[in-house]
Order: sequence, then C-alpha cells, then structure tokens
Amino acid sequence: MCGIIGYIGEKQAYPILIDGLSKLEYRGYDSAGVALLDEDQLEIMKSVGRLSKLEEKIGEQVPFGTMGIGHTRWATHGRPCDMNAHPHSDCTGEYVVIHNGIIENYQALREWLKTEGHLFRSETDTEVLAHLVEQYFRGDLKAAVRQVLEKVSGSYAMVVMSERDPGRLICARKDSPLVIGLGEGENFIASDIPALLKYTRRTIILEDGELAEVSRDNVTVERCGQLVTKEVFNVEWDVVAAEKEGFEHFMLKEIHEQPKAIRDTLRSRITADGLVNLAELNLAEDEIWQLRKVVMVACGTAYHAGLVGKYVFEKLLRLPVEVDVASEFRYRNPLLGEDTLVVVISQSGETADTLAAMRLAKEKGSPVVAITNVVGSTVSREAGRVIYTWAGPEIAVASTKAYITQLIVLYLLALQIGQSAGLIPEAEIMAMTAALKKLPMDVAGIIEKEDVIKEFASRIKDWEDTFFIGRGLDYAVALEGSLKLKEISYIHAEAYPAGELKHGTLALITENIPVIALATQPDLYEKMWSNIKEVKARDAYVLAIVNEGDNETGKEVDDVFEIPATNPIFTPVLSVIPLQLLSYYASVMRGCDVDKPRNLAKSVTVE
Ligand code: F6R
Repeated sequence: MCGIIGYIGEKQAYPILIDGLSKLEYRGYDSAGVALLDEDQLEIMKSVGRLSKLEEKIGEQVPFGTMGIGHTRWATHGRPCDMNAHPHSDCTGEYVVIHNGIIENYQALREWLKTEGHLFRSETDTEVLAHLVEQYFRGDLKAAVRQVLEKVSGSYAMVVMSERDPGRLICARKDSPLVIGLGEGENFIASDIPALLKYTRRTIILEDGELAEVSRDNVTVERCGQLVTKEVFNVEWDVVAAEKEGFEHFMLKEIHEQPKAIRDTLRSRITADGLVNLAELNLAEDEIWQLRKVVMVACGTAYHAGLVGKYVFEKLLRLPVEVDVASEFRYRNPLLGEDTLVVVISQSGETADTLAAMRLAKEKGSPVVAITNVVGSTVSREAGRVIYTWAGPEIAVASTKAYITQLIVLYLLALQIGQSAGLIPEAEIMAMTAALKKLPMDVAGIIEKEDVIKEFASRIKDWEDTFFIGRGLDYAVALEGSLKLKEISYIHAEAYPAGELKHGTLALITENIPVIALATQPDLYEKMWSNIKEVKARDAYVLAIVNEGDNETGKEVDDVFEIPATNPIFTPVLSVIPLQLLSYYASVMRGCDVDKPRNLAKSVTVE
C-alpha cells in the first residue's frame, strides 16, 4: 500500500532513494517518484509505471542533493498517472509530501483550501497535505506539520520536506507503518525494514500518533508535543534474506525456503520429550477452561490459514471455531467477550482491517493471540500475546512461506492448549510433534519434483477458468490454491467444497476444463471419488493431489501428484506446495509479473 523512503546525510540521496524504493516496490508499483533538495532547490521527478520507468525517464539527468524523499504508489484516490504520483507539492512547489494511507476528510479540506486560494493539480487525497503545510508554515516545518495533523483524519505514514526549512525531514504516522533507520552522520525513513538493511540495522519504530524530526545527526520523536524516548530496535535478519539469491523470482525463492521456514518456526517450541512449549502464549489452565469459543480473523491467504485452523482446533480441542474475514468482522458487531479467544493472523502485522479487528476484540475484552511474521509490526506491538512465524522476510506479493508457517503455528497453538488443559493425551501430542518435525523433509521432497508440476502447469496455462475442489481440510487448501492461481496468473479459479458442485457449478464443467481435486482426507475418500466422477463424466481434465499409497483416486483422473503420507491433519502443509508451484509456473508461462501481480500490493494498510 505505497512504499515511502527518506534520506538525509552526506551522500547523494538519489541512488539511496531508488535502492530503497526497489525494496519497497512490493507495496505498490503503479507509479513512482522522488524529490531531492540541493542547496535549497527542490527538484521533483515522477512517472507512472514501475520504478524502472522512473529511472528510464530520469536517465542521465540524475538529480543532486543530500536529502530527499521517494514513493512507490498503489493507487487508492486517483488513477495511476504522472499527475497523481507522489511526491505532491503545494502551490509554490516549496513543500513536498509523500504519504501512505488515506486522508478520509480530504474532500472537505480540499474545498476549504480552494476557498483560501490553493490550486490543486492531482486527484489524490495526499495533495491536501502539501497545501495544508503551505497554509500553516510560519518558518518552522515541524510546527506546520503538527497543525496539519490536527486537521486531518484517516490513516497516514508521511514524510514532509521543504526548501523553506532545509536540513530536516518531518515524518508522522497513524495506522500505516513507518521506521526510522539510524546511521552515522545520516538517517533514513522507510515504510519497511528491507529498504534500510543495506545501510543500518539500528531502527526506531514509530508508533501511531508520533511525529519525528529527522536530521543528519539527530532524531527526535514527540507525541502530543512532548518528547518521547524511543527504544532502538536491532534488526536480526540480514540483507541477503531480502534478496533473490539466484532465483528468478522472489516467489520461487520463498517456495524453496519453506522447509527452513517450518524448521525455524518449530525450533525450540517442541521439547526433547516431544511436548509443545509455546512459552509466549502464556495462557493459564483456568483461562483455557473459561474459553467457550475461538474466533480466527484475517484477510486473504492468512484467512485461509485460519480456515485450516478451524478444522484443527475443532478436531483436537472440540471447541467451536468461527473464522472471519477481518473487513467483515469489524463491522458486524461480533459477539465477543472474555470467553472467546480471538486469534488474529497477519504476515505483515500491518493489514488495516486485521488491525481494526484486533483492536475491536481487545475493546470487547476478549483474550487476543496474534500470529505474525514481522517483529515490531503494529499487530505484534498491540496484541499482547504474539506468536511469531519465523518465515523471514516475504517479498513476493503472493504469500507462500508465511502461509505454511501460519499453519505450523496454528497446529502448535492447538496442541499447546490441548496439552495445558489436558485435553489431548501426551502420547498423541508426542506422535503429532514427531509428524510435525518430519514436515520440512516432506516439503523439500515435493519441491524436488517441481518439474513434474511445471508439466501440469503447461496443461492448464491456456485456460481462462479452472476449479479447485476438496472436502474438509482439502477444501480450505483448495481456496488457497485457487487464490494463488488467480492472483499471479490471472486465470479465473474457483474453489468449491466438492459436494457443492452439483448445486450449480457443475453447469460450468465442460470438456477438458481443468479441475484440481484434493483428496488427502482418508475418511472422505469415497465421497471425493464420487465428486471426481461427476466432473470426469463431463469430460473435465482432472489433476488430483493424493496421499502416497492411495492407489484408488488416481484411477479416476488424468494426472496425479502424490504427497508423502502424514497425519491427515497435517496434509495442508504438503498439499499446498504443488498448488503454489502450479500457480508459479502457470504465471511464468503466461508471461505475468509473478512477484508484482497487477492491481495488488503486499501490505494492505488501507481499508
Ligand atoms: C495472497 C496474500 C494476501 C494476504 C493478505 C493479508 O497471496 O498474500 O491475500 O494474505 O493481504 O496480509 P497479511 O497476512 O499481511 O495481513
């Protein structure tokens, strides 16, 4: 949802801004721009399209300046075009602003500013910020920004720079992430840590309601006009983790990283005697016995992980579980209270709807557990109880290793609750943790067969419609498989509970249309065979994902992919891998931009 970067120091800012934006492009990529300040002279350059378009446009005419700001946009207000690209400036061109978020009262502010004589050039909400700074500036940029913040409502991470008050960048945040990187004689501002890692690991994470002044040698942070002392957070992971390392795309690299991601997520959470040790959960036995319900809330792929969680929790704990899309949950006055455990799942920990859902659950007195991948994210800071997925930075827009590790954490969470409350016999827990520990090896084995899956991709790549079917846990994975395929290959993919097809969708099954059937749940085999027969009878092409040793399902279908045998509750971790690879190769074969699919952004920090 837009990436922002700022630099102030002794070096030329332009290459640093471009490099930072390249690390943030996953947040939005429909236009990009930079503004540099050199000897009190501001220069703004912007272009619709990817960052490379901006670089092409600038060519050899690289702007000078040792301080500057840059932005990569995901359009919300105003179509992608040069005019709507950031940085935005005021009437005089003396104040520039980059912004991630939505200024909700921008229309009213715009009308008011027009009556004050301001002239607007773009269709964006952001432009009002620049004019407001112009309106309030009386020689002190920070004071002007303070006044601007009193006027605006909505969400923002913003950086403001002005030739009228050079030597400092002013930034502020509310509901959109912002990090300050601390260097020697230079400082940085960015939406996310990967943009800073090449330069520093020492960071300050700005909280909602904070405003910072960043100069070459100093950073001060204030809240409501009072200075606050901020903790310096040292980033543990290194820059290599955020590079492609020889893979053609981040998505492929991240698929390959899944065995390690699972191992890292399990590490130290299973004791030597095979019990679960999720120390960070910190739920006492009587708190567990109080629970009457679990609600899982998330968006997109994380929501699909929650659906797997529902099956797992209900099976292992016999506790009713609701799973809700965060954007729905937050507006339907959900029934919550002390007896409802709310599990919030978010890779980025910054998704606007998920954050709002989490805050609502806390307001209503429910215990909240957050599952997130980003240390220091808003979710991790506000949830109270946090369980990290140690997947490492996920850069590709399509989530893969984050999803897998979300599943792992959900298994551990269910097992820990069951263990603490004595709901699951220890011997069963030990058998399940042993199976969990084997998953990295099994996942690696599947990835080794990626050429086979590539071949399947060539069979579906020219279709515009596909179907994914499954029952129980397989249905949850079918949903994730279909989302992966549509988001990166733009092939329309629908996922159905296999038993539902005959209630309407079967009408769409025609000769050779691809149907991906997941059949990994032994207690549902026979039901799945009937459903597979139904689509085969309409001449569909069926690719089945089955368990090793299942010699029956394959007889009915055109192609089969076997996953290693495991406890049926864990098959989602394995069955989703061929679906991720199928989507990846279909996308590559169709010439799509795998890591940056159209209209999408990695981190959805607006509603
Ligand atoms: C799809 C995908 C998205 C995210 C969703 C939630 O591949 O990645 O559907 O899962 O935007 O994001 P987080 O988990 O960051 O809250």
